[in-house]
Amino acid sequence: MSGVSLRGIQKRYGQTEIIRGIDLEIADGEFMVFVGPSGCGKSTLLRMIAGLEDITAGELLIGGRRANDIRPADRGVAMVFQSYALYPHMTVAENMGFALRMAGVGKAERETQVGRAAEVLRLSHLLPRYPKELSGGQRQRVAIGRAIVRKPQVFLFDEPLSNLDASLRVDMRIELSRLHAELGTTMIYVTHDQVEAMTLGHRIALFNQGLIEQCGAPLELYQRPSGAFTAGFLGTPRINLISRPQDDASTALKALWAACVPQEQRLVCQIGLRPEHIGVCAHRSDAAQAAIELVEQLGDCAILHLRVAGLDDLLRARLDTRDAQALGDLSPGRALSLEPDAAKTLRFGEQGRLLPDA
Ligand SMILES: Nc1ncnc2c1ncn2[C@@H]1O[C@H](COP(=O)(O)OP(=O)(O)OP(=O)(O)O)[C@@H](O)[C@H]1O
Ligand SMILES: [Mg+2]
Repeated sequence: MSGVSLRGIQKRYGQTEIIRGIDLEIADGEFMVFVGPSGCGKSTLLRMIAGLEDITAGELLIGGRRANDIRPADRGVAMVFQSYALYPHMTVAENMGFALRMAGVGKAERETQVGRAAEVLRLSHLLPRYPKELSGGQRQRVAIGRAIVRKPQVFLFDEPLSNLDASLRVDMRIELSRLHAELGTTMIYVTHDQVEAMTLGHRIALFNQGLIEQCGAPLELYQRPSGAFTAGFLGTPRINLISRPQDDASTALKALWAACVPQEQRLVCQIGLRPEHIGVCAHRSDAAQAAIELVEQLGDCAILHLRVAGLDDLLRARLDTRDAQALGDLSPGRALSLEPDAAKTLRFGEQGRLLPDA
């Protein structure tokens, strides 16, 4: 087992800079998640660690050893991709043992190793089957099994669950957490699914255009985002980002701002208000007013999409179902008053950086 160090890592294709200087220490046994919008460079960086892409500048260490020029097969890493690409003419057992056979490992030893990996992945009963006889989730487990038998020091996953349906993804997420607890191997996991990022990672590295925007424990990023980009990326429904109202802004918008920033602070350029931190009541004359545009009933809670005069985006508020029901009529156009939680409001200054609590 071993950690991974990225020091000043850069990637250019011709003149185009894709990875613009990454410094990151991934501890031995850590579960690190790379997350970020499409095209920000997550897969590129993962492929650089795997040795599938050259490193333009900087240093990569795996287990304390400089790995920039080590051949992919000798880096001690195993990668699992989104498309599992199993050999269709081989059984599950043969697929899983393929790398060992190529490496000249004998039949008995192969069977032992494959058997052990199959047990960990609860695939033992499927070993004689062919890929076409498996469900999507089972195929992806075989692909992970193929990686496990190689006994890598580091697992690299590139969106391994994105081809699976919603409920299978949840199951596989739990399987992966269990697998990590059992193997204790360093894992680097790329996803753009924020629920996967929040639930799987010891730490999350959030990427933005080839740079790490913020890296830390999932709750740290959620509760103390370094800036508006992080705040806007994590959380469903998305956080409400509201810019300081101009002097000629609507009464509602000014009232909303004043409720969130009670002592006027000139440094605050923008606020972030999580949907769960907006209370709504029937009518309070001193509060900001809003009108219902749409209500999504999710069973345990309701998401209210509210029109606030002068605000371009709809405001998203999340209420417990019972609180939503207590409001009575929730049809479009109904006027409501907003009660944001000022203490939970995130305040951003210049360049969208988080300001310390007032
Ligand atoms: N061979 C290449 N030549 C030139 N540009 C490339 C090459 N491969 C990737 N890129 C560019 O590098 C950027 C990062 O791509 P990458 O695949 O790493 O993104 P990603 O974060 O994994 O996105 P996604 O979430 O969509 O998978 C993209 O703008 C992409 O177009
Ligand atoms: Mg990708």
